[in-house]
Amino acid sequence: MKLLLLGSGGREHALAWKIAQSPKIEHLYIAPGNPGTAQVGENVPIKADDFDAIGRFVIDHQVDMVVVGPEDPLVKGIYDYFQHDEHLCRIPVIGPSKAGAVLEGSKDFAKAFMQRHGIPTAAYRTFDGTQVEDGCRFLETLKAPYVLKADGLCAGKGVLILPTLEEAQCALHEMLGGQFGNASSRVVIEEFLSGIECSVFVLTDGTHYKVLPEAKDYKRIGEGDTGLNTGGMGSVSPVPFATSEWMERVEQTIIRPTVEGLKAEGIDYKGFIFFGLINCDGTPKVIEYNCRMGDPETESVMLRIESDLVDLFEGVATGDLDARTLTIDPRPAVCVMCVSAGYPEHYEKGRVMSHTEVEGSVVFHAGTALRDGQLVTAGGRVIAVSSYGSTAAEALQQSMRGAAQIDYEGKYFRRDIGFDLGL
Ligand code: AMP
Ligand code: GLY
Repeated sequence: MKLLLLGSGGREHALAWKIAQSPKIEHLYIAPGNPGTAQVGENVPIKADDFDAIGRFVIDHQVDMVVVGPEDPLVKGIYDYFQHDEHLCRIPVIGPSKAGAVLEGSKDFAKAFMQRHGIPTAAYRTFDGTQVEDGCRFLETLKAPYVLKADGLCAGKGVLILPTLEEAQCALHEMLGGQFGNASSRVVIEEFLSGIECSVFVLTDGTHYKVLPEAKDYKRIGEGDTGLNTGGMGSVSPVPFATSEWMERVEQTIIRPTVEGLKAEGIDYKGFIFFGLINCDGTPKVIEYNCRMGDPETESVMLRIESDLVDLFEGVATGDLDARTLTIDPRPAVCVMCVSAGYPEHYEKGRVMSHTEVEGSVVFHAGTALRDGQLVTAGGRVIAVSSYGSTAAEALQQSMRGAAQIDYEGKYFRRDIGFDLGL
């Protein structure tokens, strides 16, 4: 089979690494990919949201399947673009329709969907620009801290957690006043939930689903979960509190009602669902949905999938995912992300990199580029080191050894990934 994977980050390198291991793969293309994906497939210089160019490439190169890494093409409707084209409609796209991607693309839609299907989540209300005063009054009925979310996609920056009522009311004014452009023309205000978070991933064909290994990511730049939010500084899989009992509860109260709810509402969803969960005194609740895999969770989750991922994708395409096997490697996996100095604020690019092969680990490129034949940094999150261990602590030690070995000016990585899980 010829498969085209869309995207260019660490998540896509991890997906490409796993896809390339499938005996079913004759040729793997990645658009646009990065120097890491070029080690396991062929990069093609097409942007992941240039649908016309992607469609032409698929036809010209007789591509049999398209797998979508990031949310952007999904929210913009790549699935529907293929469905509505007479030459492309038979090529499966692994990823939801535009209507399904709204689970991630609109926080208000996601909250209303959860309410309709009785899925546990924080209590909430949504306000638009004409309802600023109502929103301020609603905030007065809540307890601190206050959670404000821009309805639309904001590259991970649209959620504000404010300690005082005054700050929350002020932030609401700013958001509804256009702080995040159109994305904050509506704002979801919700109850603050306290607990430890966990990312759960499902692959679904719209009827059946497989629950992939869960993971925990570390979003803050500083050790001890301090400082600014980032795209993710590392991940650990499995998550100790996600016991089989807890996961059973997640399946019964969250996963099943979500998959059934999508189907009941006539929403075409064939792809990954990412459940951002929080464990509130033993009760799993949904913080957010995403319509794709997590980054950097994928960089540890892919290590733990033993079965052929492409066979599972075929099950998604044909609707017989229930007849396919998912085998999970029991060994823990830990990913440590190396970033650029200054990230997530201003940082320099173009730093020459060396020692990027790590014995005993898998290295995934996130923001790298080739310049005059030399590997250089090209993003805030640069390169991830993922390792197995007989324990998670051992996997962490191995990934940290790798992260320490990789060399470029301004390298930074957190040394406490998994600290709250007892690693
Ligand atoms: P989101 O983009 O919805 O995942 O929100 C970003 C982060 O904000 C989450 O990963 C949580 O850490 C935090 N967060 C979001 N909603 C809540 C909530 N209702 N209570 C507590 N923390 C939250
Ligand atoms: N790691 C969280 C995300 O991918 O959104």
